[in-house]
Amino acid sequence: MNIALIGSGGREHALCQKIYESSIKSKIYCIPGNAGTAKLATNLNFDFLNFKFLLKNLKKNKISLVIVGPEQPLVNGIVDFLKKNKIRVFGPNKYAAQLEGSKAFMKSICKKNNIPTANFKICKKKSEVLNFLKNNNMPLVVKADGLAAGKGVAICNSKNEVINLSNEIFSGKFKSSKKLVLEEFLEGEEASYFLIVDKKKFSFIGSAQDHKRVGENETGPNTGGMGAYSPAPIINNSLEKKIISRIIKPTLSALKKKGKPYTGFLYAGLMIKNGEPYLIEYNVRMGDPECQVIMPRLKTDIVKLFILATKNKLNKIKIKWKKRKCMTIVLCTKGYPGKYKKNLLIKNLNKVLLKKNSQIFHAGTQIINKKYFSIGGRVLNITSTGQSFFKIRKVIFKIIRKINWKYGFFRKDIGWRVV
Ligand code: AMP
Ligand code: GLY
Repeated sequence: MNIALIGSGGREHALCQKIYESSIKSKIYCIPGNAGTAKLATNLNFDFLNFKFLLKNLKKNKISLVIVGPEQPLVNGIVDFLKKNKIRVFGPNKYAAQLEGSKAFMKSICKKNNIPTANFKICKKKSEVLNFLKNNNMPLVVKADGLAAGKGVAICNSKNEVINLSNEIFSGKFKSSKKLVLEEFLEGEEASYFLIVDKKKFSFIGSAQDHKRVGENETGPNTGGMGAYSPAPIINNSLEKKIISRIIKPTLSALKKKGKPYTGFLYAGLMIKNGEPYLIEYNVRMGDPECQVIMPRLKTDIVKLFILATKNKLNKIKIKWKKRKCMTIVLCTKGYPGKYKKNLLIKNLNKVLLKKNSQIFHAGTQIINKKYFSIGGRVLNITSTGQSFFKIRKVIFKIIRKINWKYGFFRKDIGWRVV
């Protein structure tokens, strides 16, 4: 079977590795992939958002299953497009992908179905913002409605900040939408909860906690994620029951009722406050770097899962886990998430020998004449599994020291809650 995997991050390298390890042997194409996936698959470098061109390539390479990593193609309707053209694809339809593509859509579903989430107001004009400000205390969170490459959320401590940001969004700072969601700030501990969903069933596919801030002690601007660990110890049985009954089930049935059932990976970003879960956001894909700590723990064959899910037969398989914990630390280019240089040589990467329990998932890398170069802000995900987070982190530090990348930096406190 020929499989295409769309995306180029650490998430896609981790998925690619798992597909590569499957007992169902397949030829893998990554579009566009990175230097890590190049070792396992054929990278095809073109713009996957050009769906017509994508289709032509998928047909040319006789692809019979497409896995979509990132959100943008899902929100643009890649699943509807490929299905219409008779290509099997794993991911949510365009309507359901609005769970991530529009914060206003997601919040409206919460309101209609009593799903616990931060108190909010969808605003289209300034008077609505001013009204919300009158009735709520600081801090408040301003969220651009549409996709904003991780730059659409700001936690504001003053009314002026809220007003200035709102004005920017109303006047088109983000191309995806001119609406915004203004919401109360929730205090608590964040956790990510993942599901694999078909039209008939959903199954748990891991929990994780990530570190979004660039700086140690959770300081500085937000990033795509500086590191993660799995499982998330905060998610115990009783909390999981609440997450499923109060958040997941009502969401999935709301989409079913609309005639647009959800399928694919579903990522619930949660805030846990006094043992109660609140939905902060939905993502319609795996997390990055959360995927990098979930895949190494998964015992079940992922290709079997993808095939069953796309046939609505998830009920035929029980997902199994290795009895191991996993952590990843992201090695970033100095300057990230602000300005940073590209095409920097990662000199020692070739020389690093990894033991069985460790892996390096590539993100922003490319390979030229057998040499590795950085082309992104998040460059490598140093990942290891074991019995104790404390020991795993030590192993990761050792690998990072061996890479000794002079243009890089990383957070030394990943997993501070668990080590
Ligand atoms: P989002 O894109 O909605 O996940 O927001 C990005 C990050 O902002 C989240 O992971 C949280 O750390 C933070 N955040 C978003 N909404 C809230 C909220 N209502 N209360 C507290 N923190 C929030
Ligand atoms: N790590 C956060 C995300 O994937 O959105």
